[in-house]
Amino acid sequence: MKPIKIKKIGIAGAGTMGIGIAQVCAMAGYQVYLFDLKIEIVQKAEKQLSQSLDKLIQIGKLSEEGKQETLSLVKFTDCMDDLKVDLVIEAIVEKTEPKVELFSRLMEINGENCIYGTNTSSIPITQIAAKLKFPELLVGIHFFNPAQIMKLVEIIKGAKTHSIIVEQAYNFVKHLKKQPVIAADAPGFIVNRVARLYYVESLKLLEEGVATIETVDAIMESSGFKMGPFRLMDLIGIDTNYSVTESQYNLFNQEARFRPSRIQKQKVEAGLHGRKTKEGFYKYE
Ligand SMILES: NC(=O)c1ccc[n+]([C@@H]2O[C@H](COP(=O)([O-])OP(=O)(O)OC[C@H]3O[C@@H](n4cnc5c(N)ncnc54)[C@H](O)[C@@H]3O)[C@@H](O)[C@H]2O)c1
Repeated sequence: MKPIKIKKIGIAGAGTMGIGIAQVCAMAGYQVYLFDLKIEIVQKAEKQLSQSLDKLIQIGKLSEEGKQETLSLVKFTDCMDDLKVDLVIEAIVEKTEPKVELFSRLMEINGENCIYGTNTSSIPITQIAAKLKFPELLVGIHFFNPAQIMKLVEIIKGAKTHSIIVEQAYNFVKHLKKQPVIAADAPGFIVNRVARLYYVESLKLLEEGVATIETVDAIMESSGFKMGPFRLMDLIGIDTNYSVTESQYNLFNQEARFRPSRIQKQKVEAGLHGRKTKEGFYKYE
């Protein structure tokens, strides 16, 4: 297999992660196509990306020209056929079937001349790849939230991922000036396996009435964590966080320590997904 020259990047899913990843890629000089299902979502993403760049201008890390240059490199689209690219990074809902369906379509569009990266937090790369035409081209490229700030990116090799694809994903992340780390295709990879208990155990404290949301967050923040678990779940998206817990719980054969919380499930059902819906464990303006 010959290495693929990466110039154009397609990002599928213009939500919490997709927008941040698009920003990072465009700021590194790549031509980016940011795709989502509906035009309203895409338009909202364009506004959010512009606001995110404004924040960089306010702290003196970007000029107005830099902002315009970055925006000019991003094409916002609701047409999947626009994702005729060298590398795709998928950041859609954390469910296997939609991811498989998306990659199948993308493989029809791009064939073997593309690297297929998934930003999944918990779904095994091998499981997604098993249903695809080119399993050797799928690799985990797992950014953390907010993608435009967090340096770490996990690179995950599925059972069939070609070593050249892994190497290319690694070098691509380096080019973004981020820190790649190779992780095995094990449940939760590295970070989410450790972090899961931060959320699950905090939700148990709440369920048992041991402490309030505010108390748990304040204690964890005062003991050195950048964000308390509830504030962090609101940032991540409670729906996404719940899906990851469910997935990890099942991958660990329903070990009690990873059991998803009914309080969290209720928030998901009520549409209280955190910052993105303006209410989760806290309310946002
Ligand atoms: N939120 C986080 O902190 C975080 C961190 C690391 C990784 N991830 C992973 O990134 C992925 C995306 O998470 P998110 O938090 O950005 O989700 P999100 O809910 O904020 O955004 C997902 C977007 O994908 C779109 N979408 C759904 N199905 C689609 C499809 N078939 N084609 C195109 N777009 C589709 C939705 O309309 C939505 O805009 C998930 O796999 C998640 O596990 C999330």
